[in-house]
Amino acid sequence: MINVAVCGANGKMGQQVIKTVNDAEDMTVVAKIDINNGEFATIKDAKDSVNIDILVDFTQPKSIYENALYCLSNGINIVIGTTGLTDEQINELKKLSESNKLGCLIAPNFSTGAVLMMKFAQMAAKYFNNAEIIELHHNQKKDAPSGTAVKTAQMMAEANNEFTTGNCAEVETIQGARGANSYNNIHIHSVRMPGFMASQEVIFGSNGQTLKIRHDSTDRECYMPGVLLGIRHIAENKKFIYGLDNIM
Ligand SMILES: NC(=O)c1ccc[n+]([C@@H]2O[C@H](COP(=O)([O-])OP(=O)(O)OC[C@H]3O[C@@H](n4cnc5c(N)ncnc54)[C@H](O)[C@@H]3O)[C@@H](O)[C@H]2O)c1
Repeated sequence: MINVAVCGANGKMGQQVIKTVNDAEDMTVVAKIDINNGEFATIKDAKDSVNIDILVDFTQPKSIYENALYCLSNGINIVIGTTGLTDEQINELKKLSESNKLGCLIAPNFSTGAVLMMKFAQMAAKYFNNAEIIELHHNQKKDAPSGTAVKTAQMMAEANNEFTTGNCAEVETIQGARGANSYNNIHIHSVRMPGFMASQEVIFGSNGQTLKIRHDSTDRECYMPGVLLGIRHIAENKKFIYGLDNIM
């Protein structure tokens, strides 16, 4: 039986994770941690009271680095769904996970469909030099751009380092009109409004054609098979992994 602690237990994702883990036969929730009315207020409080094999974190961008540092410095394997970690922070967590031989899975997107969308975008990236990403989320999302958009841009940039060649010199008459210029000139545009949960469209263009690859999450249920896969994988493999695609 895998003992799972859920951090961010009272949040939208945390509640869904608790139900899913408790419904699974091979794992159980041993601690519900939340700064807002949790069974435990901190990871340390939970660790002092119960035996934790894996902590699943769905909290907030400003907490996740500290939470992950605490887990990986105190013998707790971690599965991270919370987005907003910087490249430097991810590198530090990788070092800590490897030196302490603890499992650490960082998955900017646990939805299998979204992971496939990223993979397809990486495949298409070899054949186009112009691509832009539009990500669309509900208006309670705190970080922008989304972790999924950043990871998609990284994967596309690995496949092609010549994006946006051939554009004329551009002048933004309203700042931000061209979105954020990310890896290898792949522009990212973030939309926030009620009505969306999580969607992303990757648009490729070359002379005479465009290609659009789009994924829509319409219910948080879509993340749960990926979360279970991540917990089971980290229970077996005490390794650092960035991206669900590496274990699918
Ligand atoms: N990887 C994925 O597939 C995926 C999917 C959906 C959401 N997310 C990310 O997961 C995170 C949570 O999303 P949500 O919609 O559940 O948010 P939410 O605001 O509904 O829930 C967050 C919960 O975390 C708690 N919290 C905040 N800081 C904490 C801390 N330091 N310790 C303990 N609890 C803390 C809050 O009180 C709240 O109950 C966000 O970063 C979001 O972008 C990732």
